[in-house]
Amino acid sequence: MSITILKLGGSVLTEKTDTPTPKPAAINRCASEIASFVLSAGSGSPLILVHGAGSFGHPQAKKHDSPDGFTNFGIIEIHRAVTSLNDLLIEALIKKGVPAAPVHPFGCMVAENGRIAEMKTAQIEMMFARGIMPVLHGDVVMDRGAGASIISGDQLATYLAVRFKAARIGFGTAVDGVLADGAVVPLITRANFESVRPHIQGSEGTDVTGGMLGKVLELLEVDIDSYIFNASKETVIAGFLAGDEPGTRITGRAEAACK
Ligand code: IPE
Repeated sequence: MSITILKLGGSVLTEKTDTPTPKPAAINRCASEIASFVLSAGSGSPLILVHGAGSFGHPQAKKHDSPDGFTNFGIIEIHRAVTSLNDLLIEALIKKGVPAAPVHPFGCMVAENGRIAEMKTAQIEMMFARGIMPVLHGDVVMDRGAGASIISGDQLATYLAVRFKAARIGFGTAVDGVLADGAVVPLITRANFESVRPHIQGSEGTDVTGGMLGKVLELLEVDIDSYIFNASKETVIAGFLAGDEPGTRITGRAEAACK
């Protein structure tokens, strides 16, 4: 069983505004490209879908950020915002015939100072067995150190990839890959990271979870073939799911440059 993890960035699915604003056409197109893969692959190639928050989480997290941590109603506002985006994506997938169901990190995860400490995942395995596609997302979760913290979809996708021994990870963003001085960097490894790092351009808008550099740092931690690509361009998600190598390839494997 070769599992693929696809994370769709909030900037692909939402407008960069201060209030939750979806991009319905983009949500539908992403759902179509995913549906074509899932329906043709059957249950033999399970896909775990993770999405970010965009304007359904980042502005709310920023608003409630304080030295004392999030208030209870702050936590609830952030969580409800991102679950409403989750609902929109799941509805689009279901309309395309994909049996997609939510798994909200808030209900099955504990963090420690902003990193995932525990997560219950037996339900995901049981979903695979039945052919249900789990759709997770960056979320606010209870945190042993900080009270509550934001876990990005990037951190979650990478964690799940290790936990489920995924074959590939794809981060669909609104840019063509990791850009250094305006050009896509084809390959990032532990060996060339320090020379590329000063040139990596961040993400625009309100991002409380680390932007492009944060993605690269997450993916460099794991020995799994990973790609950061433009999911705002038609057919790129479909291509990745079919085995293409779009955008920037990243791997934490020491000898990766020799592939
Ligand atoms: C953020 O998740 C989660 C919240 C702010 C609740 P991500 O960091 O993965 O979201 P995007 O992809 O950058 O929007």
